[in-house]
Amino acid sequence: MNSDLMANPFLNLKKDNPILIGDLASLGISFVPGNLPHREKEIEQLTSLLGSLMRGTRPSNIMLYGKTGTGKTSTARYVTSMLLEASGDKNCVAYINCQIFDSPYSILVSIVQSLQAEGEQIPPLGWPLDRIYSELLKRLKLMNKNVIIILDEIDKLTEKNGGDSLYVILKICEDSPSPYVSIIGITNNTNFVQDLDSRVSSRLGQENVIFNPYNASQLRDILKFRTQGIVKDQALEDSAINLCAAIGAQEHGDARKALDLMRISIDIAIRENLDKVTEAEVNKAREKLETDLLKESVNGLPLHSKIVLLSTVVTQEMDKRPMFSGEIYENYRNICSELGFVPLTSRRVSDIVSDLDDNGLIITKIKSMGRHGRTRLIQVPENNGRIKQYILEDESLESFRGTGMGKQARFSPFDGPQDESPDGDPSSKDDIDDVFDAKPDGS
Ligand SMILES: Nc1ncnc2c1ncn2[C@@H]1O[C@H](COP(=O)(O)OP(=O)(O)O)[C@@H](O)[C@H]1O
Ligand SMILES: [Mg+2]
Repeated sequence: MNSDLMANPFLNLKKDNPILIGDLASLGISFVPGNLPHREKEIEQLTSLLGSLMRGTRPSNIMLYGKTGTGKTSTARYVTSMLLEASGDKNCVAYINCQIFDSPYSILVSIVQSLQAEGEQIPPLGWPLDRIYSELLKRLKLMNKNVIIILDEIDKLTEKNGGDSLYVILKICEDSPSPYVSIIGITNNTNFVQDLDSRVSSRLGQENVIFNPYNASQLRDILKFRTQGIVKDQALEDSAINLCAAIGAQEHGDARKALDLMRISIDIAIRENLDKVTEAEVNKAREKLETDLLKESVNGLPLHSKIVLLSTVVTQEMDKRPMFSGEIYENYRNICSELGFVPLTSRRVSDIVSDLDDNGLIITKIKSMGRHGRTRLIQVPENNGRIKQYILEDESLESFRGTGMGKQARFSPFDGPQDESPDGDPSSKDDIDDVFDAKPDGS
């Protein structure tokens, strides 16, 4: 037996790090940098719109538009924090991420809480809406500060309960003539205001600031700026920065993607005891990021969405042709019966298919069938061989063997005579949702 003491494995990790000189976490999403290169114009616009508060007049409501990762949230936080710095305690900012709140009540509670005004604790449930509303107005008066409410991902707010929550907030702006309450809404949906009902959009009366996607050269500057003081100069190859920037630019000019890639590449180089980050690490990081994202979005699906997705993957495995909704519904029911679940109605499954499309997990296309109207064709993206593996990691689905699936479930209006079984032929329906009601066996 070897009696030598084992070397403490942690001591190996303590060695001087050849790559890092700072904290890698400050490349993460929650860190607001001290400057935002290539957002000078947007910062200036926002500053000038909010500048009226410095002169004691009411600012307009403001909408920030732009794709994910174009710096909207960071710019809003950066400019409002500068405003607070310059104006002292005359103003305050309430930052609300609308993804989290789903009712006018919860959003009012969260505004009250983020104001940190004095007063009794408001229960998360239970007060009538008008009570919390007047409580909010009362506290605003007491506080006597102008309030800027940042509604980040504001489209989520109206998606969940129409314009109601926003209407209530806009009413606060109106009912609080002094101090002023105004809104900065942030969204990646350029049709957001257009889609609001007119009683809400007319009250909003906003000024718009547009965030264009970053190009590769701007992303390169951003990456260089953000890695300064974190990574040793020689440890980051230019080609690695360029690749992260190029990938971010390809993804609608997304600084978040570029920074995530950079952070993961650096992490990989450190774990592998390398003294440089090169293109090879970026490529590994890219693969990891894509796998993680896919896995996360599959894991996060509700059970029946997983079953519908499983049905599309397995149906597609039988035949590469684009699929009809009816085929997917039929195999969805086969899977439910194999695993002992009660299937949802075809309407619900139709909605799930649309959601899966929104999540990018499947691709759907509406196809005109001439005199037979229109139908929806469905495909699984080619590079998504891992989807099935992730679905079957769910323990209520892991016993899936596909015993009930049959190729007879694949049918096509292109193949057979089209008018023979009007009930079973999806192409004979005008309404695409009706495709789900089609039964392939004609029963
Ligand atoms: N001009 C910039 N300079 C430095 N970092 C930036 C810049 N623009 C965006 N970022 C960083 O990119 C990430 C995404 O930005 P974010 O403001 O969250 O985008 P959005 O809200 O438009 O999705 C954040 O980590 C942010 O710090
Ligand atoms: Mg954002």
